[in-house]
Amino acid sequence: MTLSMSTVVRYSALSVLSVVAVAGCQQKMADQPAHRPYEESAMFANKQSVRPLEPGVIHRNQKLSDDVMMTWLTPAGKSIKADEEWLKSVDPTGKTAPPPGAPTSNDNFVKEFPFALNEDDFKRGQVLYNANCALCHGGAGHANGKIPERGFLRPPSYHLDVKGEAKDWSTLTINKETGKPEPSYTGNPQGVSRGFYRYGKVQPLKDVNIGYIFQVITWGYGGMGSHETQIPDVADRWRVVGYVRALQLSQAANAADLPDELKRSLDQPKSIAHAPGEKH
Ligand code: HEC
Repeated sequence: MTLSMSTVVRYSALSVLSVVAVAGCQQKMADQPAHRPYEESAMFANKQSVRPLEPGVIHRNQKLSDDVMMTWLTPAGKSIKADEEWLKSVDPTGKTAPPPGAPTSNDNFVKEFPFALNEDDFKRGQVLYNANCALCHGGAGHANGKIPERGFLRPPSYHLDVKGEAKDWSTLTINKETGKPEPSYTGNPQGVSRGFYRYGKVQPLKDVNIGYIFQVITWGYGGMGSHETQIPDVADRWRVVGYVRALQLSQAANAADLPDELKRSLDQPKSIAHAPGEKH
């Protein structure tokens, strides 16, 4: 089919007109008589355009605090009782009650996952751990991530026992002159939860109940920020907790418990990556 010249001219004129019409529309849509959030308004006595939310309003997809996926505290953890002596030592009047979730006892935190984790859950936990936690805590949880290497507060290692017999990168720094690791002052024993230590409890992170790890991811702790927005799906947060537990098991695993083919691979010589300053 061939188009006559006059048809072409007519169609082009039409398309130019429609572009102008759409642009006009766009302008009107951008300029609506609606308030932008927190803009001043003459409508209400307090001159705000935004109305306060009704009590109990929840946002879309918000999990309620009594939802099993959000239950990381036991009834004891929700109504905390502080150790009498600790309370007296921080507040002689004894009136300051620690808030819900304060790590005054391991029994404040649940021991069981809200759902059964399968292999895919652990793999997803691994991806999320490597993306969100390893940069500080290190790939295997020895607190030797890149960020503390550059001077950020060093987290505690996930692995050591209270005796701290093995080297804990959370309490060591490298002496620049000798290149050797030396103890640095953190004020905490090695490998124990700093949150619990604040309440006078020596609680190895190795045996901390999983609810506490979920709480630290959700609320953050001390120098570590909350990861609630980075990992918004609560099931994903439990998967990360699962992976942290798997790391802890892996670092204290008994060779006898390994399947045969892995046992055999243990006997093969391998080059091992050493932390800086450690003997090769
Ligand atoms: C920006 C660095 C950083 C990132 C990212 C980070 N952490 Fe931490 N984490 C820390 C530091 C620092 C501390 C110790 C805080 C303190 O002593 O004030 C800590 C402490 C902890 C503790 C122990 C709390 C205690 O009572 O001693 C756990 C468990 C933990 N982090 C888990 C995680 C998990 C899981 C992730 C990933 C979802 C994560 N962290 C991401 C820096 C980080």
